[in-house]
Amino acid sequence: MSLPPHGGTLVDRFLTGAALDAAKEKAKGLPRIKVDSYCAFDIDCIAKGIFSPLTGFMNEAQVRSVINNMHVKPGVPWTIPILLAVSSEVGDKLSLNSEIAIEDDEGDIVAILHLAEKFHVDHREIAEKVYRTTDETHPGVAYTLGLGDVFLAGDIDVLKARVIEHQEYNLTPKETRAAFEHHGWKRIVAFQTRNPIHRAHEYLTKCALEVCDGLLIHPLMGTTKSDDIPGDVRMECYKTIVELYYPKKHTMLSIMPVNMRYAGPKEAVMHAIIRKNYGCTHFIVGRDHAGVGNFYGTYDAHYIFNEIDLQELGIQPLFFDHTFHCKACGNMGSIKTCPHDKENHTILSGTKVRDMLKAGEIPPVEFSRPEVAKVLIKWAQSA
Ligand code: ADX
Repeated sequence: MSLPPHGGTLVDRFLTGAALDAAKEKAKGLPRIKVDSYCAFDIDCIAKGIFSPLTGFMNEAQVRSVINNMHVKPGVPWTIPILLAVSSEVGDKLSLNSEIAIEDDEGDIVAILHLAEKFHVDHREIAEKVYRTTDETHPGVAYTLGLGDVFLAGDIDVLKARVIEHQEYNLTPKETRAAFEHHGWKRIVAFQTRNPIHRAHEYLTKCALEVCDGLLIHPLMGTTKSDDIPGDVRMECYKTIVELYYPKKHTMLSIMPVNMRYAGPKEAVMHAIIRKNYGCTHFIVGRDHAGVGNFYGTYDAHYIFNEIDLQELGIQPLFFDHTFHCKACGNMGSIKTCPHDKENHTILSGTKVRDMLKAGEIPPVEFSRPEVAKVLIKWAQSA
């Protein structure tokens, strides 16, 4: 028996067969709205049950409950609103209790929305409560403040599954659950990442695997900010390190078509819930999880779990302090497990590493596997 999905049922909003054909025909005559790739990824997540128990876009009561109480309904924690926004010119023309065709960024009708509610919640209030700031240099805040004024709520029926690069790795929650069962894994730890795997990441994942049966390396491949390392480069790094340094019997590499929100603590909880839906029992939360710039304290993403009922959450977070290689220890460790001074620790800033890669220099093996560094040098020098 695998772990129950969040809210009890694994959502599947895809239409198939005759219902799909009929919906495609009907959609041609419906009022139409256009969405960007960010929203199209959210639609894909709802359709596949990645956002279970959501069956559509949130209504006002749900949004207020999420931003004020971190619950989408009683007993079901949720920390980030899932919104469908349009301008007031577009929103004013749409009638309640009607069906609306949603066209995605690729020009296809991706879904039909059953419009149940139109509402407005102040964008700055959402930003303040989700991102803990209204500073527009925060990418999540900038995105939120740029949304249209009218939010549309209602269930969606989905006509198209989004195909992304490395699609063969883009397993749905149903598929990862089946894979875990096939492997006979009962305790499965998920690792969220939006960066190439360096030695500190490798240490976290392997420590976690010591106490689990399986490790799901689960990089985020939805929209990210433009200066993050591109998905295809990261993918080459993941494949390389998994092939050379992870045990095949206990490791799975799969990607997750979810947008990065950079919401730090609130996103750490959301990342855990998503991995529960993929069938994982444990979730790694390290230093400054899902953080950006200096917006969050190093361990804010740990502390937030003190405010969450772990029984309701239904997936066990595994917290890790800041990890690094220590010369005196002769191995990896963290500020919790290493007794030595900073001078012994190999800690490199992102800027320093980028400069090294651009110059064709391989960072110390204590920081990165050389095979991964080589992939990154090729990218850094061609960018
Ligand atoms: S994130 O936006 O996905 O959190 P990143 O890919 O860098 O960014 O981190 C993936 C996971 O590894 C997160 O849980 C993060 O907290 C953790 N992490 C990254 N670097 C370290 C480190 N040096 N020590 C401890 N945890 C780390």
